[in-house]
Amino acid sequence: MARTALVTGGSRGIGAAISKALKAEGHNVAATYAGNDEAAAAFTAETGIKTYKWNVADYDESTAGIAKVEAEIGPIDIVVANAGITRDAPFHKMTPEQWHQVVDTNLTGVFNTVHPIWPGMRERKFGRVIVISSINGQKGQFAQVNYAATKAGDLGIVKSLAQEGARAGITANAICPGYIATEMVMAVPEKVRDSIVAQIPAGRLGEPEEIAHCVTFLASDDSQFINGSTISANGGQFFV
Ligand code: CAA
Repeated sequence: MARTALVTGGSRGIGAAISKALKAEGHNVAATYAGNDEAAAAFTAETGIKTYKWNVADYDESTAGIAKVEAEIGPIDIVVANAGITRDAPFHKMTPEQWHQVVDTNLTGVFNTVHPIWPGMRERKFGRVIVISSINGQKGQFAQVNYAATKAGDLGIVKSLAQEGARAGITANAICPGYIATEMVMAVPEKVRDSIVAQIPAGRLGEPEEIAHCVTFLASDDSQFINGSTISANGGQFFV
């Protein structure tokens, strides 16, 4: 069944692959982005997927943006909270600013994205909330106290939402990607990245499309009984 889907951070990296995969499933997709107008315009030109600019860390901007998407495309049935940033630093060097930037975007950003959509999902008795967490929320990561905290927090969000939404036909699940070939991972110093790849039994980085497949599965009508779960997609690097 064709539904309306919102993907935050949906014009680049893993988010772009998710937006395209949901469109290929027949859904009407809106993708948000924070700042890169050029990349968003190129994405729309390539895919025909409409993009919307707002900062997920800001509740009022999120609420207004979501209202605009719902007016233009339709009530949102599938929300993929994907937008995320890194501000890596060893803990002794991490600044309060680096902490707050990551928490505001990666964790509060999930609240700001799902909260305005949730009442409509409850009324319509259908919803799919999919949060893109990370392997580093499961295992922790050197230089990512901030990021790992938010990605672990994502798992608490979906486990709680799963219990609140189940009777209203809403499911909430998380995906924990491992190291995927995106700009975020390519920004890691090459030597460090090589040592990370050496720890992945698959012997390679993942592809964004491999995460997108997990999303289309969780977004489908058939996945109703999968609720509060975490799908790890990491090439065998870490088992919970
Ligand atoms: N484990 C143990 N020690 C490590 C380490 C690790 N994983 N990484 C670095 N170190 C050590 C270095 O060897 C170095 O030690 P020495 O001083 O003894 O040589 C020290 O830590 C680094 O100290 P620096 O003062 O040089 O550190 P820096 O301030 O320059 O910061 C860094 C460098 C930010 C830590 C950089 O190495 C880095 O970016 N590391 C990668 C962190 C990472 O994996 N991030 C994941 C990004 S991808 C992502 O987040 C997506 C996802 O969801 C998977």
